[in-house]
This record gives sequence, structure tokens and C-alpha cells, in this order.
Amino acid sequence: MTKVDVSNAEQVNSWIKDTVSVFGRLDGAANVTGIAGGDGSITETIDQLAWEKMIAINLTGVMICMRAQLPHLTVPGGSIVNVSSTSGLRGLPNNAAYASSKFGVIGLTESSAAEYGKKGIRVNAVLPGPIDTKIFREGEAKGLFNADVVSAGTLMGRMGQAEEVAKVLVFLLSDDASYVTGAHWTVDGGYAACGFYRAG
Ligand SMILES: NC(=O)c1ccc[n+]([C@@H]2O[C@H](COP(=O)([O-])OP(=O)(O)OC[C@H]3O[C@@H](n4cnc5c(N)ncnc54)[C@H](O)[C@@H]3O)[C@@H](O)[C@H]2O)c1
Repeated sequence: MTKVDVSNAEQVNSWIKDTVSVFGRLDGAANVTGIAGGDGSITETIDQLAWEKMIAINLTGVMICMRAQLPHLTVPGGSIVNVSSTSGLRGLPNNAAYASSKFGVIGLTESSAAEYGKKGIRVNAVLPGPIDTKIFREGEAKGLFNADVVSAGTLMGRMGQAEEVAKVLVFLLSDDASYVTGAHWTVDGGYAACGFYRAG
């Protein structure tokens, strides 16, 4: 296992180079890293450094990883899956930097899918809804989300588990999804389907 900071291009480039030299090829890559951050500010009080950190990790970090991965991906058949969020589809009040970064991941995914589609490389995005992980619980502790409220806002009445996202991500990476590219695939218990933040 190699630890890298995805916002550091040098570290990411040497990580991908080393990976390819050990395994001889790169069939797929999942760019999952993200931070939730956010201190509940409204737009006029956004802290510049906090904004820049969020964009650097959540959006530029994905670009840095893709830029390093794409030249090595198997042609045809290589595939990338980036993790965006249902917050990449609609605004997230009091956490505009997060939503902006996740909208950006979708733009990056679609643009790249168009650039590489004819080579037989697929690029897709997974958009998790409320998933019970550290990032969610940290946001909840800051008062940014509430598990009961978001659970009620899903069509299934519950939060998701990381494994439920991972299974879709693995499917999209695999040849079973051979005609899926440029997609934003929600894994959200229906959170985005009928509106967000619905009461009970
Ligand atoms: N949990 C949710 O409700 C939810 C909803 C929508 C989208 N997402 C997205 O899913 C992805 C995974 O989040 P999670 O819920 O598993 O959260 P998590 O906090 O459990 O995992 C995030 C991981 O990113 C790593 N990380 C943070 N900064 C990094 C950096 N600069 N370089 C390399 N690694 C770094 C952390 O060490 C951690 O392992 C994120 O992109 C997140 O935005 C999560």
C-alpha cells in the first residue's frame, strides 16, 4: 500500500509509475478520495483557504490522478470511476465548496469520457447519497447534516453502507459495464430521485 496526497502531482505521478512498473499494466482506476470539510459558512463568509483546500483535494486531486492514470490505461478496455456525490447534482447550502467540487468532478468525468470514448476507455462517476462513513459522521458532528433527516429523505428510509457503493463502483470499472461511459450513477437509496431534504 502506498500513501499519497492526491493534491500533490509529484507524489501521484510516482505512485502510478511505480504501480505500472510492478504490475505491467493499468486496467482500471477508482478515484475515491474526498474531504467533507465545511464550517457551515454562507457564501459571503467562505474562508478562502478552506475553499482552496476542498477544491485542491476533491476536484484538482481527481484531475491529477486521472492525468497520471490515463496514459497507462489499457487500450481498449481501460476504465476510470471517479467518486462525486449527489451534492454534485444540486447545491448544498452552507457547504458550497463541497458541492462545487463535486459538480466539478462530473464535468471532468464527462469531458474525459468524450475525449477517450473512441479509444475504448470508459470514464464514469459514482454519486453516493448519505453513506454511513467517517466523512458523514464528521459533517454531522459539525451540524452540517443529520442522519435521521437524510435517511427520511431517501426513498428507502435509511443511510447506505460503503460496501453498497463499492459494488456499483466495481461494476462500473468492470467489462460488465462495457457500454457505460460518461454516466453519473447515483447510489443513494433514491435520495436524488424525488428531491432532497424532505421531512419525515
Ligand atoms: N459518506 C457519504 O455520505 C458520501 C456521500 C457522497 C459522496 N461521498 C464521497 O465518497 C468518497 C469517500 O468518502 P467516505 O465517505 O469513504 O469518507 P472517508 O472520510 O471515510 O474517506 C475519505 C478518504 O480520503 C482520504 N483522504 C483525504 N484527503 C486525502 C488526500 N489529500 N490525499 C489522499 N487521500 C486523502 C482519507 O484518508 C480517507 O481515507 C469521497 O469522495 C466523498 O466525498 C461520500
